[in-house]
Amino acid sequence: MTTPAAARATDHTAQHTAQPGAVSRDGAPLLVRTRAELAAARAELPGPVAVVMTMGALHAGHAALVEVARERAASVVVTIFLNPLQFGAGADLARYPRTLDADLALLGDVGADVVFAPSPDVVYPDGDPAVRVSSGELGTVLEGAARPGHFDGVLTVVAKLMHLVRPDVALFGQKDAQQLLLVRRMVRDLDLGVEVVSVPTVRDPDGLALSSRNAHLSPLDREVALVLSRALAAGERAAPEGASAVRRAARDVLVREPLARVDYLALVDPDTLADVPEHFRGPALLAVAARVGPTRLIDNAPLVVGASR
Ligand code: PAF
Repeated sequence: MTTPAAARATDHTAQHTAQPGAVSRDGAPLLVRTRAELAAARAELPGPVAVVMTMGALHAGHAALVEVARERAASVVVTIFLNPLQFGAGADLARYPRTLDADLALLGDVGADVVFAPSPDVVYPDGDPAVRVSSGELGTVLEGAARPGHFDGVLTVVAKLMHLVRPDVALFGQKDAQQLLLVRRMVRDLDLGVEVVSVPTVRDPDGLALSSRNAHLSPLDREVALVLSRALAAGERAAPEGASAVRRAARDVLVREPLARVDYLALVDPDTLADVPEHFRGPALLAVAARVGPTRLIDNAPLVVGASR
């Protein structure tokens, strides 16, 4: 049976699906669904080519990634693929928002050239892959501790999408700092030959970091969720006083909001994700994760500890 969402996606397919060897020239991105359609569209794209990988439910944070991609490359490919491999059993894959029509409209506005939106059987034709990329120790801390196997699933699909799209540049948001670090390490450790560019977190005017998960926040949850960015801002202000002051300042803000169930607050080395020692001076990452209602949110702030004001 065709669901309304699937029917809408089919409508778009009818409007914009790739003719082999064709690239959309009417301002709308070209929607491709299969490996063959992607290869035909990719062959026509002037280089350098940038890729922005997404799971859909796009927002202004994704638009910023595409805008930076446009500055960096002659052509921009956006992938929309809700990767089952990176969701744990019982995790929120089923409730993840699916908004293909709105995503395509946004991507038309920001000037993506090609949108690759494959189904799981296109990406994983043999079912769950027997061989996967391992994220190693770095994938077991912070988000990895809360979501075992998550980063192996992320890196496996990122590697596959890099092979399929063959980009020169790939853009990832600072919002998912651990994912960004792991993608950089994978590209370096496995010699994937793609430049990885990070794009700063986009925030609502009140400080809330944009996330597809924000769609699940009730108005009250949204108010509560502001405690994450407030805690990070307090930590940033305390950075000149040292690591203990950063941790204390951020924790003091978090404890005043009991409706946010904090999973972790960590001040870590941005390259190793190890906790920075008390007398550390230099670049660090202040990262926080909390549950607000049924929604798990993350945020982070890169800062320099011990720097003079
Ligand atoms: O950040 C995301 O949306 C996903 O983890 C990614 C990079 C598209 C891989 O599925």
